Amino acid sequence: MIKPDAVRNGHTGAILNDIIAGGFKLVAMKYIRLSRETAGAFYAVHKERPFYGELVDFMTSGPIVAAILEKENAVEEFRKLIGATDPAKAEAGTIRNKYAKSIDANAIHGSDSDENAEIESNFFFSQFERF
Ligand code: TYD
Repeated sequence: MIKPDAVRNGHTGAILNDIIAGGFKLVAMKYIRLSRETAGAFYAVHKERPFYGELVDFMTSGPIVAAILEKENAVEEFRKLIGATDPAKAEAGTIRNKYAKSIDANAIHGSDSDENAEIESNFFFSQFERF
């Protein structure tokens, strides 16, 4: 998911380019704005964390791009491509290093396991939108 800060700052095209150049195949994509209910449900695992309210505020502050990507070992490879959660700690050349300015507005989300990738894909896309 390309987050509202990156979309707002005009980085959508460059980020998609980095993703494709990184060897990922785009198999589904949509441009949408999350409701508070949807954003809250997506990040339900962080419900008890102090940053949860602000995370929901941020994730509903503008449109996002949701996508399903394919690659061998995709979850690990994509997390390498996006870099650490805190852009200040993300390696040079990673998407968060290049396009994000803070830990709360960090440009992009990547699933953290194969199981969550499947759950999150089904969260955004129906069977008719997945090829
Ligand atoms: P997390 O799942 O820990 O990181 P990642 O996105 O790298 O898998 O956190 C989810 C999101 O919550 C993170 O991308 C940004 C936000 N967040 C904060 O705003 N403050 C924080 O201190 C942390 C850890 C996360």
